[in-house]
Amino acid sequence: MELSSSKAMLLVAALLGIAAAHSWTEETRRIGPKGDFIGPPGYPRKYAPESRDSYSVWLLPPNGGLNEFTPDLLAVLPTKAGFDESSYHPQYPMLKVAPGDFAAIFYNENGHVSRAGRDNPEKPINRGTVYLYGTTKNDLTGLTLMDVHLKWTADGDINKGRLLATRNYDDGQCHEVLPDTGEADGILTWRKEHITKVEGLRCQSDFQIPKDVKPGSILTVIWVWDWPSMNTVGVAVPPHTFKGKTLSGEKRVSKFELYTSVVDFQIVDPCDPVLGDIKGPTCASVPLNKKNIVRFDRTLPAVNRSIEAQLVHPFMVHVPDFTEDPNLIPLKPLIGAKNPRFPLDSKILDAQYEYFTLGGKAIPTATAIVTATAVATVTAPAGGKNAVVTVTNVVPSATYTTFVTRIRD
Ligand SMILES: *[C@@H]1O[C@H](CO)[C@@H](O)[C@H](O)[C@H]1NC(C)=O
Repeated sequence: MELSSSKAMLLVAALLGIAAAHSWTEETRRIGPKGDFIGPPGYPRKYAPESRDSYSVWLLPPNGGLNEFTPDLLAVLPTKAGFDESSYHPQYPMLKVAPGDFAAIFYNENGHVSRAGRDNPEKPINRGTVYLYGTTKNDLTGLTLMDVHLKWTADGDINKGRLLATRNYDDGQCHEVLPDTGEADGILTWRKEHITKVEGLRCQSDFQIPKDVKPGSILTVIWVWDWPSMNTVGVAVPPHTFKGKTLSGEKRVSKFELYTSVVDFQIVDPCDPVLGDIKGPTCASVPLNKKNIVRFDRTLPAVNRSIEAQLVHPFMVHVPDFTEDPNLIPLKPLIGAKNPRFPLDSKILDAQYEYFTLGGKAIPTATAIVTATAVATVTAPAGGKNAVVTVTNVVPSATYTTFVTRIRD
């Protein structure tokens, strides 16, 4: 039997008792009407399962260079910048999606979530911020980090570049396989028991494919993980500037560390047979009352579902100032904590439940309906089962207003 690459990766990490010192995107899936994964997986650009590490990592600023971002730094690994027929091996195609679909991008936490607390206390509590930038201009040759990062905004033209989502790298559930030596932090064991029920689970960045991308085009997503070291313990999210300073000018970053990956999505007609039974939300045959509705089923096993909070909140780290929403940081009790004890106590660990109930205290087993009428950013809705919540918010830097409704089943 052939192990899936992610299993093999987890196994290798477990056997060696170590983890790679970085992350990159691994796989993509389409998200269905229950918040479940549907259809075959897709892959990142120039996916190479046998040598993913050396072949996939793009660290900025580079090791051994200056501890600062300079304008010449390229946005993506140069061997992955170009786009042609060699970009996708037939065995590892890009994901086919329709405009308005939700999709997941997977990556391994490699200890950066479950072992960061004790080993790397100077890292931010959200374990870094993930930015998803989209463009239908697929050749990224010569594009610099500064051309894209903190420059493409939520209201950007999709052909020129748009910020599609911001994510906390810690998605609230991912964890490595337990090493033979056990774990010090307690996060892995708690998640395995209470959320995932499996030995190891990949992290995911979920997002909505823009409605205005044209069938026949290819959406290129640049996945940016900003993971600097802070000069103090307990900082919620990295500051938003290339200078590592807060909005008020306070220096926060002691060492910059940022990784990027490139993932493409083939945009098909919303009614295309290739999508199987579940068509895109704008397909005319989809009944009006079913359009754009994700009836999120919280009873699905974690391995089979997306993350509700990510479907409801396109910008989990606020735009345009990139400050935190503490309620969307799974380990939020660690924010501002200067000297947490490990393993973490149950009050801190149990707070992670709230992330899965959108701020409520209930055990995450209810079925909620998330109606997304457009790409949205929202404030945290009240939790609880069967709550009728309408949330409206305006993306500060954008020209559109959006609505997300959670309604009674
Ligand atoms: C759930 O995920 C597992 C692991 O990927 C897979 O083997 C299984 O078929 C999935 N089940 C459903 C109902 O999708």
